[in-house]
Amino acid sequence: MKQAVGEVAYVKPTVVVLAAGLGTRMKSGIAKALHPLSGRPLIRHVMATAARMDPEKLILVLGHQADKVREVIEGYRAEIVLQYEQFGTGHAVRQAREAFANTTGPVLILCADTPLVTAETLKGLVMDHEKTEAAVTLMTASVQNPFGYGRIIRGKAGVMRIVEEKDATASQKRIQEVNTGIYCFEKEFLLSSLDSIGKENAQGEYYLPDTIGLARKKKRMVSASLCADADEVMGINTRVELSRAERIMRERINRRWMLDGVTLIDPDSTVIGMDVSLGRDTTLYPHVSLEGTTKIGEHCTVYPGSRIVDSVIGNAVSIKDFSLIESSSIASEASIGPFAHLRPDSVIGERAKVGNFVEIKKSTIGEGSKANHLAYIGDATIGREVNVGAGVITCNYDGFDKHATVIGDGVFVGSDAQIIAPVTIGEGALIAAGATITRDVPADALAISRQPQEIREGFAGRRKRIRQRKGK
Ligand code: UD1
Ligand code: CA
Repeated sequence: MKQAVGEVAYVKPTVVVLAAGLGTRMKSGIAKALHPLSGRPLIRHVMATAARMDPEKLILVLGHQADKVREVIEGYRAEIVLQYEQFGTGHAVRQAREAFANTTGPVLILCADTPLVTAETLKGLVMDHEKTEAAVTLMTASVQNPFGYGRIIRGKAGVMRIVEEKDATASQKRIQEVNTGIYCFEKEFLLSSLDSIGKENAQGEYYLPDTIGLARKKKRMVSASLCADADEVMGINTRVELSRAERIMRERINRRWMLDGVTLIDPDSTVIGMDVSLGRDTTLYPHVSLEGTTKIGEHCTVYPGSRIVDSVIGNAVSIKDFSLIESSSIASEASIGPFAHLRPDSVIGERAKVGNFVEIKKSTIGEGSKANHLAYIGDATIGREVNVGAGVITCNYDGFDKHATVIGDGVFVGSDAQIIAPVTIGEGALIAAGATITRDVPADALAISRQPQEIREGFAGRRKRIRQRKGK
């Protein structure tokens, strides 16, 4: 089925993603397709791009840790083909042969380790392919350091064949035009050439790039489409390359947010996940990391060293230095940190303040309430305009079970109080400093639990004199 895209028709391709390899050069127990890039497994980047191609059919070739890969791509409609032993990229595509035998469009091959390529670039490749009678249109790139890539051997009539790094002569190794591992094949040609690929090469593998030489032998046309941005088609084989890809992704994401009205004081050290959203006039200081599905509103400031995971933050919130916020929500104009830890399921109300060295777990802090210094609040529901003094602890765990604390509106909890849950403190009550609260406190009452203070006149002075006599 042809659809008009500009002047050239875009024919929906069948997309085959190769992801069976272990990724030996990663030196890892984790299959390469599962290594995260910007917080998402590599394979999910490629699947998302493949889905954006509006493919006639999406086929995924899996081998190493196939079950785990399957798990992370849940939600993508793909036919999965298994390659039990990895005998090379040509062998991998051969496993998918039946899956694309009855499709009508061209076959686009992608690799799980080339995650930065965009759907726009790939659509361009498919359209380039449709403009010609080529048996295959391959995407090439011109790179500074071609080490590891297949080199493009050109003759008078264009691309003749591809030579892999391990098979290349010294002069071929100097060629800087490389194979990106992305190809658009005429389906019939691909089907007919898969069995002709041999494995007489340095690695004893079936190389998919050998189809280029085969096409030339059959006097078929081979087209090459040079990718303008070589970064987009970089392959990830080692962790050094993974870190380069991470930097490229970070630059893309951060640039987009800056153009959307977010100030990044040091974009090089700011990490924003792909599924994060940010409001205008929010400012991120250096070394801030925003992960998962975090949403931050407008006019917020996140100071250095803070990490926010899967959390929702309103407008004009201030997250001060070195705070960790996990799966929590913070309403507008609240202030968190420095050095605060919000553990999962914490809900912080409007204008509330959570100060330094305060840990909050699975608790609600009402509007305008404050816990400014050194407190632990767990399994608590705290009303509005409550003051939680320095060093207050909700003792929520008795060694067996967790218990709840309920604190009404306007309560004042004095410093160093321990609240032994389950317990309820009524509205407007006053908890004296140092109190150990074991029973419910009625509204507007004072709860105090302390030894009466004793004064022994002159005691300290006598001790001092004794010490002086003994010369100590
Ligand atoms: C491949 C190309 C090389 C190209 C480079 C671009 C071959 C022989 N070489 O080399 O010309 O410059 O990509 O990045 O194709 N895979 C399987 N089954 C296998 C082998 C590989 O599914 O049996 C998958 C891998 O999981 C990976 C992709 O194919 O996603 C590429 O394999 P890799 O071993 O990384 O190939 P390169 O050596 O990088
Ligand atoms: Ca590779």
